[in-house]
Amino acid sequence: MSDLTPLSSLNSLQYAPAPESRAVVTLQSAYGHFINGDFTNPASSEQFATLNPATGEQLATVAQGSDADVDAAVAAARKAYEKVWSKLPGSERAKYLFRIARLIQERSRELAVLETLDNGKPIRETRDIDVPMAAAWFFYYAGWADKLEYAGFGSQPAALGVAGQVIPWNFPLLMAAWKIAPALAAGNTVVLKPAETTPLSALLLADIIRQAGVPDGVVNIVTGDGRTGAALVNHPGINKVAFTGSTEVGRIIQSAVAGTGKKLTLELGGKGANIVFADAPLDETIEGIIDGIFFNQGHVCCAGSRLLVQESIHDDVIERLLRRVEQLRVGDPLDKNTDVGAINSAAQLAKITELSDAGVLEGATRFSSSCALPSTGFFFAPTVFTGVEQTHRIAREEIFGPVLSVLTFRTPEEAVAKANNTTFGLAAGIWSEKGSRTLWMAERLRAGVIWANTYNKFDPTSPFGGVRESGFGREGGRHGLEAYLNV
Ligand code: NAI
Ligand code: MG
Repeated sequence: MSDLTPLSSLNSLQYAPAPESRAVVTLQSAYGHFINGDFTNPASSEQFATLNPATGEQLATVAQGSDADVDAAVAAARKAYEKVWSKLPGSERAKYLFRIARLIQERSRELAVLETLDNGKPIRETRDIDVPMAAAWFFYYAGWADKLEYAGFGSQPAALGVAGQVIPWNFPLLMAAWKIAPALAAGNTVVLKPAETTPLSALLLADIIRQAGVPDGVVNIVTGDGRTGAALVNHPGINKVAFTGSTEVGRIIQSAVAGTGKKLTLELGGKGANIVFADAPLDETIEGIIDGIFFNQGHVCCAGSRLLVQESIHDDVIERLLRRVEQLRVGDPLDKNTDVGAINSAAQLAKITELSDAGVLEGATRFSSSCALPSTGFFFAPTVFTGVEQTHRIAREEIFGPVLSVLTFRTPEEAVAKANNTTFGLAAGIWSEKGSRTLWMAERLRAGVIWANTYNKFDPTSPFGGVRESGFGREGGRHGLEAYLNV
């Protein structure tokens, strides 16, 4: 290891600040709901603030959607479905989706800066990942709108009607795209509720949808907290529920929807195993481990939050990994050099802190980057725990933050047993030079998505979703259409 730079000298590397301008974003001080093609005055006067988690600054207030607002949105979606959207040929629906995709590209800087302000994720990620991928989702599903009879769901697949969609705060714009694009392509209309800490990019998307000339009521966006989400999910006027969020709320929704005839997809939490064999290409693997857990501050349902390392290379991997963690730039999300931005909320920061403290109490060894954290806002230093046991809370519970738990294994059988020792089943990664071993592992891992020699790769053509407590149903690809068709 003597050819590697010592840890201490890396800390002296400095970059000049490279902040992205926020001038491209025009914020209103208060927002209403987007119902029937327009921003409307909320039925109730209750509202709440959304913050910039990097500074604590209030960005705007949004309305707390009441039962009356949800009623109005569902009624608008129903009318649009019956009078307009279900009567349009697929090729016409496709035109609107293509238009939305192009407008997302045209307004990409505005969307990226707004998303970074409201969520705290680095501008490098919103600019290069969230926004381009949101556009890609609309482009991809636009292509399906007039080809549904070739999707493998019968010769005349029918839409369901009105979809009620509830999304989380970790990928606010992208999750809106994942939900809205396939729903519209398949001929449904939607009512979407964004998360309470990150409503602004969905409201900007509403503006784009209006700009694209999408008929009134086809897309409706109602803001609010879990009460608004519950009112939407339980509304008798919807035919389909799509939810991404915590397993706890997923359970509530599953029992609420049972027996109603509403079609349901749930995309819930995870505790992804990132499995490294002794023959893995180490430089690439280290980058994959870093990306697997520190991308988006670890606020990723499929994060590779459990690192399983083959025992013979454990010390070498850990030494390289800690050196790399120490190099991560943590700070102002609007700075183009930032790797790890702000934790999305005070509540999430408290949860990450509590679980990390539990890791120390239960006997794991903690390494946290020595980086300086900003004095305002919510930040957490990238952290790696070694010596983690399968019984530790940090090996079992979803931390949803920049915290990695490292375990070891000796044989492929032991790797499989440890990887599957979780109630979740969303994603896993395998790092090995041997294709036969990768396939052997992939057959045995209980996870909806398995990456080989890469991690956190997303593409609109590829289905994504979990098994067991990570939920059911698939988003993306041809499979993602099934959730919005009567099949
Ligand atoms: P959450 O599941 O409470 O929130 C997700 C969405 O569901 C939000 O839009 C929220 O307003 C809505 N919601 C809350 N209660 C509802 C209800 N009864 N009916 C309908 N909608 C409801 O997640 P939260 O509290 O933001 O995060 C808690 C933990 O959940 C995180 O620490 C993380 O571990 C996990 N999580 C996982 C996500 C994933 O993508 N797998 C996303 C967000 C959170
Ligand atoms: Mg916010």
